[in-house]
Amino acid sequence: MATPRKKVSSKQIKTNQNDSSKTNRPGHGHDEHIHAEHNQTERGVAVVTGGAGSIGAVICGALAREGMRVVVGYNRSAEKAKALAASLPGGDHAAFAAPVTDSAGLAAMAAEISRRYGVCDVLVNCAGVTRFVPHGDLDALDDGLIENILSTNVRGPFATVRALRPLLEKSKQPGGAVIINISSIAALTAMGSNVIYCASKAAVDNMTKSLGRALAPKIRVVSIAPGVVNNDFIRSMDPQWLKEQVERTPLKRLAASEEVASAVIAAIKHFTFTTGAIIPVDGGRPLS
Ligand SMILES: NC(=O)c1ccc[n+]([C@@H]2O[C@H](COP(=O)([O-])OP(=O)(O)OC[C@H]3O[C@@H](n4cnc5c(N)ncnc54)[C@H](OP(=O)(O)O)[C@@H]3O)[C@@H](O)[C@H]2O)c1
Repeated sequence: MATPRKKVSSKQIKTNQNDSSKTNRPGHGHDEHIHAEHNQTERGVAVVTGGAGSIGAVICGALAREGMRVVVGYNRSAEKAKALAASLPGGDHAAFAAPVTDSAGLAAMAAEISRRYGVCDVLVNCAGVTRFVPHGDLDALDDGLIENILSTNVRGPFATVRALRPLLEKSKQPGGAVIINISSIAALTAMGSNVIYCASKAAVDNMTKSLGRALAPKIRVVSIAPGVVNNDFIRSMDPQWLKEQVERTPLKRLAASEEVASAVIAAIKHFTFTTGAIIPVDGGRPLS
C-alpha cells in the first residue's frame, strides 16, 4: 500500500502503482490522488494478530512482499514472531505482543505502534482458537472452551479494532485503511471443528458488516472466509475426515495458506470499493 507523502525508491513499494493507483478516495479529487501516488509513496503499516501462526505467517510474508512494514502480533509465540519479523523482506518490521483477550495489552500494543510508526494502514485479525468436538457431543463443549473461543475469536477482533481505530483513522492511504477479519466457511455452512467455533465465525462475519458501516468512509472492513486450509494441524486430523473434505469440495482439494494470503492482498489492493463483505476462499465447498 502506498501513502502519498514522501518519495522513496520504487523498489520499496509495489502496491498502488498499477490500476489500483487510480483509486479515488470519497470526497477527494480524483486527479489529485492519481498524481499524488505516482513516485511519492511511503510504505504502509500492517498489523497481523496471530501473525506467527500457520496462516498468519504466510499473510505477513505476502504483506511484506507487497512493500508494507509488518507488525507480527503474537500471544505465546514471541520468539517465533521475532524470528519471522527479522526474516521478512523489506525491513522496519516488528514483533509486538497482541494478546486479543487482554484489552490493556492491546492498548500497550497500539501505543508501541503509535511511537514507532504513527499510523496503522491495515489490520488483519487472524488470531483464533478452536478444538475439535463432535457437534452432537454437547457435554464435551464445556463452558471454559466456549468462553475461550468466544473471547478470542469474537471479542478479540472487536477489541483489536477498538484499540487501533485512532491509528487506522490516521491512514493516508488512498481509500483509507483496511481491516481484514479471517473468518471461515464454517460461518456459512455451520460445519466446522465445533458448534461454538462455527457460531464465532458467523459472529465475525456479522461484525464485518456492522463495522463496515460504522467505520466508513475512513476504514473498509472485509472478511476472508477460507475453507479447510492444508496446514500442520489439519494434516494431523483423521485421514478419512480429510478425504471426505476434499471429496465434498467441488475443486477437489483443500485451500493453501498462500491462497488465503492472496485474497487478503486482493481485498486490500484491488477490491477498493468493497466493504462489509465476506469473500470466500473455499473451492466451492458450500455448493455440495
Ligand atoms: N486452519 C484452517 O483450516 C482454517 C480455516 C478457516 C479459518 N481459519 C482461521 O484462520 C486463523 C488462523 O488459523 P491457523 O490455522 O493459522 O491457526 P494457528 O496456526 O493455530 O494460529 C492461531 C494463531 O492465533 C493466535 N492466538 C491464539 N489465541 C490468541 C490470543 N488470546 N491472543 C492473540 N493471539 C492468539 C496464536 O498466537 P500465539 O501462537 O502467539 O499464541 C496463533 O498465532 C484463525 O482465525 C482460524 O479460525 C483457519
